[in-house]
Amino acid sequence: MNTSTQHLLEAKALGKEFPGADQSIAVLTGVDFALRPGESVSIRGESGSGKSTLLNVLSGLERADAGQLFWQGQDVSRYSLSKLAAARTRFMGFVFQAYYLAPELNALENVLLGARIAGRVDATVRARAEALLVRVGLKERMKHASTKMSGGERQRVAVARALINDPPLVLADEPTGNLDESTGLAVMDLLLEIAGEAQKSLVLVTHNPDFAARTQRQLTLHWGQLA
Ligand SMILES: Nc1ncnc2c1ncn2[C@@H]1O[C@H](COP(=O)(O)OP(=O)(O)O)[C@@H](O)[C@H]1O
Ligand SMILES: [Mg+2]
Repeated sequence: MNTSTQHLLEAKALGKEFPGADQSIAVLTGVDFALRPGESVSIRGESGSGKSTLLNVLSGLERADAGQLFWQGQDVSRYSLSKLAAARTRFMGFVFQAYYLAPELNALENVLLGARIAGRVDATVRARAEALLVRVGLKERMKHASTKMSGGERQRVAVARALINDPPLVLADEPTGNLDESTGLAVMDLLLEIAGEAQKSLVLVTHNPDFAARTQRQLTLHWGQLA
């Protein structure tokens, strides 16, 4: 067994640049990262240090310019974007700062949207979506339009959506960044609890040192590298 197969996710020497006004900006300059199954890791770093870029590259939403990326031991570095998208639906759930719910859909339909992308929605999937919404405390809100929900409720829907395909990995990019302190704490409690009880791996980008301290490993992104 090579080292890559023991890790749920592994990145080697990832590089990413964006075009700037005169010259390109190197955002990631050799990121090495390995995540074990069930492990939780937090990533902190100044605004603009490349945290979102890193999560986008790790999740295949954006392609790295250099380095290698392994998902469950598979080198996905050269996968086409469509092949990456297909693999991603079963491999990871993503929670964004700004929720990214479909505004015209209710809570349940938003959660089911995550399942539709992965395949057919049958009674089992529907029951799982309802159970997840109960688990995140939205039993009475399943048929609410997402636009009529508070920020905390929307992020709870997003957490349920991230878990609908039972992925081994959840990535969360400042999931409490738009929430007030107590609502943010409640969402973070929920995210860490559910990830822990379902033995999901979690990569959490957060500015909050108290939240970061609750993950098993704490990393900082600085000058394009993780330390
Ligand atoms: N699509 C893009 N095009 C050009 N520059 C980008 C793009 N996305 C991010 N950047 C730049 O990359 C740097 C890192 O951004 P980001 O990953 O969003 O940082 P963070 O999430 O740590 O705040 C910033 O300088 C940002 O302006
Ligand atoms: Mg960001």
